[in-house]
Amino acid sequence: MKNVSICVGSSCHLKGAAEVVDIFKNLHKKLGLDNKVELSASFCQGNCTNGVNVVIDGKIIPDVGPENAEKIFREKISECL
Ligand code: FES
Repeated sequence: MKNVSICVGSSCHLKGAAEVVDIFKNLHKKLGLDNKVELSASFCQGNCTNGVNVVIDGKIIPDVGPENAEKIFREKISECL
């Protein structure tokens, strides 16, 4: 199971974290990843200046936003299963 945690702290929230959550949730559902990818939200990950931050299996991916969320989901999550 791949663990994906999206920061929804206040700084990341201002940079579009809620939209990133929606995009990730929709792709998760569309691609049928229930048994392969666990999505969660986290509080501040201590890297606010580079948000939105997403942690994938312990590794921080910075600078995620609504404009690149689908690309990152596909490249770093769904194509790596
Ligand atoms: S609010 Fe996301 S890293 Fe601080």
